[in-house]
Amino acid sequence: MAMHALITGGAGFIGSHLVESLLDEGWRVTVIDNFDPAYDPAVKRRNLARCFDAPGFILVEADITDGAGLLAQWPTGVDVLVHLAARTGIGPSVRDPLAYSATNIIGTHHVLECARRHGIAQVILASSSSVYGVNPRLPWREDDPVLQPISPYAATKVSGEMLGHVYSRLYGLRVLALRFFTVYGPRQRPDLAVHKFARLLRAGRPIPVYGDGSARRDHTYVGDIVQGIRAAMACKASPYEVINLGSDHPLTLLEMIAALEEALGVTAQLDFQPAQPGDAPHTWADISTARRLLGYAPRTSFPDGLAAFVDWLDGV
Ligand SMILES: NC(=O)c1ccc[n+]([C@@H]2O[C@H](COP(=O)([O-])OP(=O)(O)OC[C@H]3O[C@@H](n4cnc5c(N)ncnc54)[C@H](O)[C@@H]3O)[C@@H](O)[C@H]2O)c1
Repeated sequence: MAMHALITGGAGFIGSHLVESLLDEGWRVTVIDNFDPAYDPAVKRRNLARCFDAPGFILVEADITDGAGLLAQWPTGVDVLVHLAARTGIGPSVRDPLAYSATNIIGTHHVLECARRHGIAQVILASSSSVYGVNPRLPWREDDPVLQPISPYAATKVSGEMLGHVYSRLYGLRVLALRFFTVYGPRQRPDLAVHKFARLLRAGRPIPVYGDGSARRDHTYVGDIVQGIRAAMACKASPYEVINLGSDHPLTLLEMIAALEEALGVTAQLDFQPAQPGDAPHTWADISTARRLLGYAPRTSFPDGLAAFVDWLDGV
């Protein structure tokens, strides 16, 4: 019998790549997604275009904030749960913080509760580099006790990790919380900088540079993130782990823009603006835990990842 993975948020950017990778290797995959309107739901349906006809693929349209509805539609016989469904993005969370708590804290709690009731042994939670916030000790290590989140989104991700810890201690689920660092690549969310800037550059419009352009981000290619998630799905190291998944090669905003100019063959007009509330000044992953526990080795350079992104953008 094929292994069965349940992926919440499987219609999204990262989720759809994970779903394809599992189906390609003969897994049964159930996706739970509510096609949230944070960005065009038609884009998310297109993300799954290759999956609909695959044997073993099931789509359940359900909202994780509705606990009773979620339990009623929860599939049976799941070997591994990967919980990616979330409200994402820092800025919108600053403007509408309670909506983020509803989905990312209460919704995550409903997901964990369904997993407990169905006896799912292995659970992967999507966390975020944003939990480190303004922690000045770079690169960020998971065993650094100083989490200094500075946005509602980041606080909900800390809460999700804490709920995962409780469920692993009390109810025996193995939980691995993966802290993703700025993921990019084909199908990237339209609100994220690489995608947003690429569209502006293509349209010949100026791109907003928040702050002086020296803020660094650890950009991680989506294919490398999927490899990390896949390894975590099989990792039996301990009942609870928190693991950074980054590239360990942070780039300043101006370096990122220069690479985009190169990939698109255009020159950017820069529109300098004040730094945005909630944005961390720097992100940088120490990935030694991922290397040790998951055999994780990100292999996609930023120029190669951008080339794949631009290929995809050209075909949209
Ligand atoms: N992309 C990144 O750079 C990044 C970085 C750190 C963490 N993460 C985390 O990774 C996960 C996936 O992110 P992504 O970039 O693929 O985002 P995405 O928005 O493309 O995917 C999230 C999916 O969750 C679904 N969803 C939202 N609310 C839901 C609800 N109430 N019920 C059911 N489904 C719901 C959405 O419809 C969407 O398909 C998220 O948990 C995010 O916080 C992403």
